[in-house]
This record gives sequence, C-alpha cells and structure tokens, in this order.
Amino acid sequence: MGYSKNILDKAFGEVERRRSEALYRADKRIAEVARVCPEIERLRRDVAGVSVQLNRLIQQKPECLEEALEELKTANLSSQEKIAELLQRHGYDREYLTYKPYCELCQDSGYSGGAICRCVKNIISTINYKELAGKSALAECSFDNFELSYYPKEEQNIPIAGYGSNQRSAVDIPYEVMKDIYDYCRDWAENFTLKSNSILMFGQTGLGKTHLSLAIIKRVIEKGWNAVYFSAGEFVRKAQDEQFGRDGGNALSSAAEADIFVLDDLGTEFETKFSVAAIYDTVNTRMNRNLPTIISTNLDISELESRYSQRIISRLMGDFILLQFAGRDIRQIKSRN
Ligand SMILES: Nc1ncnc2c1ncn2[C@@H]1O[C@H](COP(=O)(O)OP(=O)(O)OP(=O)(O)O)[C@@H](O)[C@H]1O
Ligand SMILES: [Mg+2]
Ligand SMILES: [Zn+2]
Repeated sequence: MGYSKNILDKAFGEVERRRSEALYRADKRIAEVARVCPEIERLRRDVAGVSVQLNRLIQQKPECLEEALEELKTANLSSQEKIAELLQRHGYDREYLTYKPYCELCQDSGYSGGAICRCVKNIISTINYKELAGKSALAECSFDNFELSYYPKEEQNIPIAGYGSNQRSAVDIPYEVMKDIYDYCRDWAENFTLKSNSILMFGQTGLGKTHLSLAIIKRVIEKGWNAVYFSAGEFVRKAQDEQFGRDGGNALSSAAEADIFVLDDLGTEFETKFSVAAIYDTVNTRMNRNLPTIISTNLDISELESRYSQRIISRLMGDFILLQFAGRDIRQIKSRN
C-alpha cells in the first residue's frame, strides 16, 4: 500500500509509544510483586541472570556449551515454575509477570512475517480517519444515511455533462439514476483494490457528490487502505504553500501516492497556471501509476476542457467511469425542513 513517509512515521511512533507503555506496565507489576513477595523477585533475577551466564560460557568454555545449556535451561524452567506457583499462592495470575505486548502478532515491533504488521495498518486507518474527519464531514456521511427518497421519481431533464456518462437519455428519473449510482459506489467501495477504476462525478450543487465520496472513503479506510481527500481549493493552497516553503507538509506527494485520492469540487479553485499544473501533475501521476482517483465537479465537459486543456480532459474521460448525478439540491431541501 502506498503510505506516505509522514503517516508511517506517525504510525511507528504510536507503536513505539505502545511498546514503552507495555514495558512500563510490566515494570510496575514487577515492582508490586517484589514488595509483596521478595522471593519472587530473587527468582526473577536468577532467570534474568541466565543470559549473562550464557554469554560468559560461550566465551570461556565453548566445548561444554551444549551440556551447560541444558543445565541452564532446566534451572530456568524450574525457577519459572516456582515463580508461577508463588504468584498463584499470593493470589495473582500465573502469567502476571509475563510481558504482555499490545500486539501479540508483532510483539510491538511493527513487523510480522517480514511485512508491516496489521496493528500498524490499523493505526494508519485511525490516523487517516482523524485527519480526514478534521477537515470534512466524514463522520456525517455514510452509505447508511444516504437517502434515496430525496431524489424525484418523476422524469426530469438531466443535463448530460460528459460523453459516455451513465445516463440512458437526457430525460430520466433521478431516483433511478441515483439508485444506480449509489449501488455502483457501494460495490466499488466494498470491492476496492489498487486496481479499481477511477470515478468522475458530475452534477449540480447539493446532489450528494461529496456525501458519496466520503461514504466511499470511510468504507475504504475501514478496510485498512490509505486515503487522501482534498477539495480542489484546499489542495491548490496546500500545494502552493509547500512549493514556496511556507508549509513543511506533503499534500502533493501524499495525494500522488495514496491508495485512493478524492479531489472534490474540481473547478471551484482559484484558477492560475500553478493550480492547473498542480492538479494536472497529481491526477496524471496517479493515472500513470494506475491508482484509483475520485474527482467530483459542478462543471460540464466543455467547461472542464476550456479550463484544463482538452488533452487532459479527454484522457480523463477515457480512463474514468463517469457518473452523472441527478435530482434537486438536497442542501436546500434539508435546510427548509
Ligand atoms: N442522498 C442523500 N441523503 C442524505 N443526505 C444527503 C444526500 N445527498 C446529499 N446529502 C446532504 O446534503 C448536503 C449536500 O450534499 P453534498 O455536499 O454531498 O452535495 P454536492 O453534490 O457535493 O454539492 P456541491 O457540488 O455543492 O459540492 C450534505 O449535507 C449531504 O450530507
Ligand atoms: Mg461537494
Ligand atoms: Zn502488530
């Protein structure tokens, strides 16, 4: 998975914190037991001394190593057994002094089976979720609270924004159109892989483009993938600040590398040569790497073409699945109720 260095550092920092916390708790248990039963502490020190003895042996008498090893092992086991018994006698669990890592799988090292452990991926998901939730309505937007009842069941004239979009005709039933889109997005999120196709969402304001993109992200993050979300305006601002050294972040590279990148509200950013180039570079890099991207916009295809050059847009149209949203402004409907 394409994790940025930044997020990996944060996640491994958390693993480190967990490891020291587990060690701290183990030390506290040891100190507590030593107060209650000094005999246990003495035995525990014996066991700890074994590795020191072993090292000395390896250096001094390598020829008797095997025999000595057996002896030490037996002594060790019997000390451990005595510790367990004493613990029990004092009302503790037999395993009370055994080091308990946060993650059994990797023993809080962050790696298991030669790969990044599942616990690190979970930490990344959580960080991702918090970062996204801080700057979007992630918490409020899911597939479960996406209501199809907002979309009219009567035929309407639906502007077709792009060639090859999902509509059957210019006149269609918004409810039917949106049900197809909803099902499509839900399946897409459910079956997400790095090979998933990209999506371009067209449609007027308030039809649920952002809502559905966030619902997708939420599901994909839950499954442990790494997601980056930006509105186009915010993306360009961040990119500019990074470019000119005002911000040490890495919005550009994290957007280019993330498992899924959502670029929301394309066309609302302040248009400059820089903004067009920054957006083009990121989208193009992801297309070249075959990484899935979701773009949403209020513009139609000719507006897109005049803003971002026909060459880019025709490439985008060829690569992305086009979803033309329909219906009435749900933001308005909700504010009236
Ligand atoms: N089908 C739906 N069910 C419930 N709430 C919805 C639905 N569609 C949209 N909303 C809500 O309506 C508001 C506007 O929707 P959203 O922001 O997704 O629209 P949009 O298409 O992204 O609009 P814009 O083009 O202005 O960005 C949000 O609060 C969203 O949660
Ligand atoms: Mg939106
Ligand atoms: Zn782990």
